[in-house]
Amino acid sequence: MKQIPLVKLRNGDQVPALGQGTWNMGESAAHAAAEVKALQAGLELGMTLIDTAEMYADGGAEKIVGRAIAGRRDQVYLVSKVLPQNASRRGTIAACEASLKRLGTDRIDLYLLHWRGSHPLSATVEAMQALAAQGKIGGWGVSNLDTDDIDELLEEENGNQCLTNQVLYNLSRRGIEYDLLPQSLERGVPVMAYSPIEQGRILKNAALAAVAQRHGVTPAQVALAWVLRRPGVIAIPKAASQEHVRQNRASLDIALADADLRELDAAFPPPRRKLPLAML
Ligand SMILES: NC(=O)c1ccc[n+]([C@@H]2O[C@H](COP(=O)([O-])OP(=O)(O)OC[C@H]3O[C@@H](n4cnc5c(N)ncnc54)[C@H](OP(=O)(O)O)[C@@H]3O)[C@@H](O)[C@H]2O)c1
Repeated sequence: MKQIPLVKLRNGDQVPALGQGTWNMGESAAHAAAEVKALQAGLELGMTLIDTAEMYADGGAEKIVGRAIAGRRDQVYLVSKVLPQNASRRGTIAACEASLKRLGTDRIDLYLLHWRGSHPLSATVEAMQALAAQGKIGGWGVSNLDTDDIDELLEEENGNQCLTNQVLYNLSRRGIEYDLLPQSLERGVPVMAYSPIEQGRILKNAALAAVAQRHGVTPAQVALAWVLRRPGVIAIPKAASQEHVRQNRASLDIALADADLRELDAAFPPPRRKLPLAML
């Protein structure tokens, strides 16, 4: 099995290019044990970056993550997010402290602004810097910020401390290839690709199925391999079953050939002009 490539963040942290998402986890007590086991299976396979958010199941996903990482916190690179309505100077700090409690830890490695709301970016950045100075977070980043928002962020004091932009990116959502992705990589800010398999909606596509068949893998694995083939992109698929986790880990072993990529480009054309950043 191929090693999971590492992506270096500008604070020196090295994170696996393949992590695990948690949206929709923690919604039902009946599924909790399976979700914890799936995350732990991923950790054992080296998918040690776990992405969560205060929003998911109203804190329920963070509690699942807390259970999954109990006793193995040191193996995990923990990412969580503050909701825009909480992202004031004081609100960000309070939200982080509440997340830390639910996660059962004293440090979030990477804390993101979930999307831009009405609080000024400067207030959120100030709070993020204060949290970092206190050691409650290792660093901070943003999510769902388009190129103009990123330009604005970089104008703010300490705005250049932003470590990542987590955005929607998969075969059917290629808009960022036009500008946001190359600009981010040029600026040394890796992109974290969320919904890398479009929550399953693209899996019946004929081209994807044909490529998958040629490689003897599933369409989801091809979709993931397609995202992972780009250096500087971190993918965070969510899988609540251990079988899906194993398949996602194995997607790193798929080497897509030029002919595969051409076929996928024909079915999912790259952008020819600026498109507004899509969001789920
Ligand atoms: N920043 C943001 O605004 C934002 C927005 C959306 C998502 N995210 C983050 O990104 C993560 C991933 O995105 P997502 O959850 O929206 O969508 P996703 O990862 O593209 O898709 C998740 C769905 O795909 C299924 N799946 C996973 N692996 C599979 C496989 N190998 N074969 C077939 N199906 C598979 C899962 O099923 P099972 O669960 O049954 O295994 C689940 O239904 C989220 O969980 C969250 O952490 C962030």
